[in-house]
Order: sequence, then structure tokens, then C-alpha cells
Amino acid sequence: MSLPTPKILLEHVAIAFGKRPVVQDISLALQEHDLLCIVGPSGCGKTTLLRAMAGLIPLRHGRILLDGAVITRPTPRIAMIFQHFGLFPWKTVRANIEYGLSVQGRRDEEGIVTRLLEVMGLFEYAQCYPYELSGGMQQRVGIARALAVQPEMLLLDEPFSAVDAITREMLQGELISLWEDSQRHRTTGVLVTHDLDEAILLGDRIVVLSNRPGRVCLDFKVPIPRPRTPGDFRFHPAYPQVRRQIWEALHNNHAPD
Ligand SMILES: Nc1ncnc2c1ncn2[C@@H]1O[C@H](COP(=O)(O)OP(=O)(O)OP(=O)(O)O)[C@@H](O)[C@H]1O
Ligand SMILES: [Mg+2]
Repeated sequence: MSLPTPKILLEHVAIAFGKRPVVQDISLALQEHDLLCIVGPSGCGKTTLLRAMAGLIPLRHGRILLDGAVITRPTPRIAMIFQHFGLFPWKTVRANIEYGLSVQGRRDEEGIVTRLLEVMGLFEYAQCYPYELSGGMQQRVGIARALAVQPEMLLLDEPFSAVDAITREMLQGELISLWEDSQRHRTTGVLVTHDLDEAILLGDRIVVLSNRPGRVCLDFKVPIPRPRTPGDFRFHPAYPQVRRQIWEALHNNHAPD
């Protein structure tokens, strides 16, 4: 039996700025509705790789395909949540979330913006401006803005790194429920994180990249069944071994280049 066409496929991807390679020979295949977590040392090219998947930067070598077609430029089918929230300070919370739809000339016929305001606990802040919100709330606006366009692919670059531990757990829980709730749109995701536990909690699969130039040094399926919650996943018997495996891959490949 042949496998279905991957939602996103990276074939021997290499990216360089000038002469210095940033990532090299990255091959990955992700099926629809999977959530892949990427971890790796600072500067190994994680953000660069996500930007390439979003069609924002050219490849030096290889191909990236969405449903079997090469990605050459940004498409509304792929949404990215940036490491720093990237909200428009002059727009209200509601206008920030509506932004992607308006750029595409779409109207919010399903009332999705209101639903996201509710789900993200932002309903009462719809008319506020970003500077009036805490860091965690701003990040929730960023996530809601990406989800409003109901993308087929969601690329998340350290989406919870700037918030405190309790807010992070809450947002992780929200992301899990959005994933479980997204049966209708079946979003596929790639999430970059420095937090090993976050990768184990959220990922169907985890990829570890080596020091720059980033290469895949570990790629495996997380053997902890869903549903997982921030409160219980560490109690699964497979957890210590999974964590050690990622930690060792990171530390064995962390020599300076
Ligand atoms: N537009 C650019 N022009 C030149 N060099 C760049 C550019 N963007 C990134 N780089 C370089 O590419 C390398 C990888 O950067 P990238 O931001 O992808 O790393 P990262 O893995 O996301 O790091 P971090 O974990 O700190 O966010 C770095 O050395 C960076 O200086
Ligand atoms: Mg980065």
C-alpha cells in the first residue's frame, strides 16, 4: 500500500546567506494534520527553515512541496506565527485578527473572528490596542490572526517563548484543543521550540537539528498517545526515555562549527 502524498515535503533542502550555509540536506515528510516540533541550538537555522516553508526565502538546493506542488512564493494556504508577535500596534485586537481575511479580500462569513476572540479569551479586549495587553494576550492575538484564515499549514516559531510558565501551559492547552477541534479544516503544523517538554507535549513527531549548518540529527514519532495534557504527559512511562533521546541528540551535536 503506498502512502498518501505528504502535506509538506522537504527534499534535500539547503539554504545559505552569501557563502555560509545555514541549513543543509534537510529531508522531511509530514502527513496532513500532523504536528511536527523542531528543536535545535540557537542559530542552527530553525526560523530560516520555517520562512523557507512559508515561501519567504529561496533555497540554495532542493525543493519544498505542498500537496505535491513546489512552493515558490507565499500563499494564504500557509500561515506563520513569528517569534516576536508581529502585531500591528495601530490596529485593534479585532482588526489584527481580521487582517489576514481582509488581505485576501474575504469576508468573515462564518463568524470565525468572534469565535477565536472567545476561544482565546480576548472577547472583552476586541477594541483594545496591542500595547494595552500583556505579552501572553498579545501572543494569543498572533495565534488567532494566523488561525482566522483557516490555513492548511500553520508554522509557529517559538510561539510561547515570551510568556510566563503558567500562561505558556494555558496556551499549550489551547493549541492542543484547537488541534483536536480542527477536524473540519485539518491544519498541519510545524512548531519550533527550545523547550524539550513543549516538543514532547505537542508533537506527533520531533526533529532535532544540529548546530549550524542545521542538519536533521534525530527524527522520531512521539510514542506517548493523545490526548496529552500539560499536567499529565510527564507521567507516561515513555517520557524519561523520550526526553533523554532528544537531550542527547542536542548535546552530541552541539560542538561549534
Ligand atoms: N536574512 C538573513 N541574512 C543573513 N543571515 C541571516 C539572515 N537570516 C538569518 N541569518 C543567519 O542564519 C543563521 C540562522 O538563523 P535563524 O534565525 O534561522 O536561527 P534559529 O535557529 O532560528 O535561532 P534562534 O533559536 O536563536 O531563534 C544565523 O547565523 C543568522 O545570523
Ligand atoms: Mg529562531
